[in-house]
Amino acid sequence: MNLILMGLPGAGKGTQAERIIDTYGIPHISTGDMFRDAMKNETPLGVKAKAFIDNGELVPDEVTNGIVRDRLAQADTEKGFLLDGFPRTLAQAEELDKILDGLGKKIDDVLNIHVEEEVLIERLAGRFICRTCGATYHKVYNPPKVDGTCDRCGGHDFYQREDDKPETVKNRLAVNIKNTKPILDYYENQGVLHAIDGNRDIQDVFVDIKQLIDSNN
Ligand code: AP5
Ligand code: MG
Repeated sequence: MNLILMGLPGAGKGTQAERIIDTYGIPHISTGDMFRDAMKNETPLGVKAKAFIDNGELVPDEVTNGIVRDRLAQADTEKGFLLDGFPRTLAQAEELDKILDGLGKKIDDVLNIHVEEEVLIERLAGRFICRTCGATYHKVYNPPKVDGTCDRCGGHDFYQREDDKPETVKNRLAVNIKNTKPILDYYENQGVLHAIDGNRDIQDVFVDIKQLIDSNN
């Protein structure tokens, strides 16, 4: 089960990814999470990525393709994987096919979560994340069951993402809107693209995703 989750910033990729990996036991490969880990640890990759991410720009393809190539070569992807936030340019989509070709694999399904722009801005403004396990919450739409305690790991330390500042969000959205259409066309032509209405309750969105995965795999 080789899956891609697509959607503009704030569409709910990370939120749905948590549920997908818990249900199907495949690894979650989020390029955004990998860059944030590298930035936290101040590795050479993190230092390079930070300049782009802080401005809401994409990290250059050759850097991003390299970390995905290495990650997909790891043994835990044998039974499948869930890519989140990759590919984000047509060149990345084409490179991904080459990488998978070399591994004797292919993409089975691309799930594109669609949400209107106004809603995305509100979602990003209210997002906060558990520092211990990475679970994602929203002040209004998805607060923890017990205020100040993570539902997933019981942690108490939360943070907001640097790139969720309103001025960065504007550019992130513009950059992603510009790049998305050619990728959707690419996967439409391959017959693997599925549209998911992301403008509903988190659990309802997951029910649709689960139905789709179960009927195709
Ligand atoms: P990345 O971390 O991938 O960020 P993004 O694509 O901007 O997406 P987000 O993580 O912001 O949103 P999401 O869709 O995961 O939404 P979430 O589930 O959190 O990338 C960050 C940066 O890294 C990029 O800008 C770029 O610089 C770089 N980068 C990464 N990949 C790259 C690549 N391939 N190439 C080049 N550069 C790359 O949900 C958002 C909020 O909404 C949460 O608060 C959540 O609780 C809430 N929510 C979720 N679903 C619902 C719902 N159904 N109803 C109500 N609220 C909801
Ligand atoms: Mg995310």
